[in-house]
Amino acid sequence: MARLPQEKINEIRHSVDIVDVIGQYLPLEKSGRNYKALCPFHDDKNPSMSVSPDKQIFMCFVCGTGGNVFTFLQKYLKISYIESVKKVAELGRVDLRDYHLDVEKRPENKEHVALYQMHQEAQKIYSYYLNTKLGLEAKTYLMNRHFTDDLIKEFQIGYAPIDPVLHTAFSKLGYSEIDMVKSGLVIESQSHFDRYHDRIMFPLYNQQGQVVGFSGRIYKPTQTDSKYINSPESDIFVKGQTLYHYHQCREAVKQAGFIYLLEGFMDVIAMYKAGIENTVAIMGTALTKGHIQALRRLTTQVYLCLDGDQAGQAAMSKAARELEEAGFKVKIIVLPDGHDPDEIYEEHGQLGLEEALHKTLKPIEFLMDFEYRMVDPLNYDDRKNYLEKMCFEITQITDDIDRDYYMHILSSKSGFSYEVIAQHVAGMKPKKEEYVYQEVKKTIRLVDKYKKAEHDLLFYMLNSKDVAAKYEAKAGFMYNDQYRVIASYIVDYYRHHTFIEVADLIDSIQKEELVQTVLEISQSALPLPYEEKAIDDYIQTIASNARKMKKDQLLEQFNYILDPSQKAQILSEIVKLESEKESI
Ligand code: UTP
Ligand code: MN
Repeated sequence: MARLPQEKINEIRHSVDIVDVIGQYLPLEKSGRNYKALCPFHDDKNPSMSVSPDKQIFMCFVCGTGGNVFTFLQKYLKISYIESVKKVAELGRVDLRDYHLDVEKRPENKEHVALYQMHQEAQKIYSYYLNTKLGLEAKTYLMNRHFTDDLIKEFQIGYAPIDPVLHTAFSKLGYSEIDMVKSGLVIESQSHFDRYHDRIMFPLYNQQGQVVGFSGRIYKPTQTDSKYINSPESDIFVKGQTLYHYHQCREAVKQAGFIYLLEGFMDVIAMYKAGIENTVAIMGTALTKGHIQALRRLTTQVYLCLDGDQAGQAAMSKAARELEEAGFKVKIIVLPDGHDPDEIYEEHGQLGLEEALHKTLKPIEFLMDFEYRMVDPLNYDDRKNYLEKMCFEITQITDDIDRDYYMHILSSKSGFSYEVIAQHVAGMKPKKEEYVYQEVKKTIRLVDKYKKAEHDLLFYMLNSKDVAAKYEAKAGFMYNDQYRVIASYIVDYYRHHTFIEVADLIDSIQKEELVQTVLEISQSALPLPYEEKAIDDYIQTIASNARKMKKDQLLEQFNYILDPSQKAQILSEIVKLESEKESI
């Protein structure tokens, strides 16, 4: 069978639109001719990734990551180049049966394979027991909480009986005791026992939807230990990256345009009962960077609805700040009477829950209320402290009108005059702008005029075959190593093409740093069409730099070589270089 030729790869690339493909993974916002998104490849604060439908490339202006549709899938899904080509071919329905594809399987860690398999097996075993006599009481508990068979199936809920059924099954299946303990499902003791007994079992999944852990709930009034026991962290279960319902909510989030971030999986399930599926739960832990990174892949809007108790509200204020700093638009929902979504659903049904979810607060509104509850209005220090905190929050608001509005509210709440507040806010520096400024400053810094000439000439070479031909004839050399290699790729590309498609060119380059440089150059804001005079100037500058380099080299040789005839030879070369200067 034939190997995949470059033309076929190009055909595959043309079979899809990069905007559609990236749009499956990231929320894209239209911005002029392009689309933008929060960059998933660094800790992005503002949407810095741009996707160009015209050029069929993407690029992040902050971290520099960029490429074509293959590059995106490779990096985003952590797959090989050829796997990404295959994936695009599937999306674009390009038939590859006649081609030989060496899809190298990523070497999977053998130990991990066992851990995943054990969890899959455990889920099946637990599901089985829920429908046996042993699981009857557990099932009744679920039914009382309005779980249907469909729901139990959807969330793959099961039951861990009293006997160590997993240990027995795993032994029969030939897993080693070491792996069993590593999985967290079996506990090392004098004899081996299952971690979970006599609990209702909720599987926890990783972001790809594989079972990697469990949470087990008590269900009888006689059971007095922890309400839930969760699997310990393991090689495959990382709590800081686990969001319940993550792999199932993608479509719903896309449709709704935002995600509900909830406290526990019972809340996710309650929302599901009410037909709301754009939800994930952090499962009682603090929000981590890993969670934020995962959310970023789904949406830019988060509706926070954590528990209504003091701890939950404090967590909400912290999470709101972290999400806003990470570039999300945040809204906060405080459910009545400190209830969670599950309790609201049980008491007031679907409509009651929907209604409660409609009352959203901006983080500043929530904070003003939340912090005020800790203020004793008769205590001056309390009020002043509150004022300081809220003034700082107000400096974070970028919209002038909003800022003014909340200063008025703060004035009436705190009892300090509007003037004092306005003055105080004006004296505080907003911290966000410095951030952006530094990031922008970092991006593109061109060192000297030679480098700039080479850079700009490359831009015009990308846009015109004639310019590339002129470069080849008159200069043929760039001093910067990267630019020189890129120039030769460009010249080479024109041997078979009249125009350059950047998305195709980078495919033949492959090397990451070079690709990034090509993308950066291709995005330069230089005037088009080009002027002949400008091109000549660039070539002149580049050639004179090359001459200068050569002259320096010759002078150095001249100084250490002793043989007079060789010295004379070098001297004549230097003279020749000097005369070339005039002839260009
Ligand atoms: P909650 O106490 O709010 O539970 O804990 P819940 O969601 O309302 O559950 P029900 O309605 O009582 O059944 C929220 C999350 O905190 C974690 C769990 O992940 C739970 O989903 N948690 C709670 C524990 O890990 N251990 C516990 O003992 C309690
Ligand atoms: Mn609950």
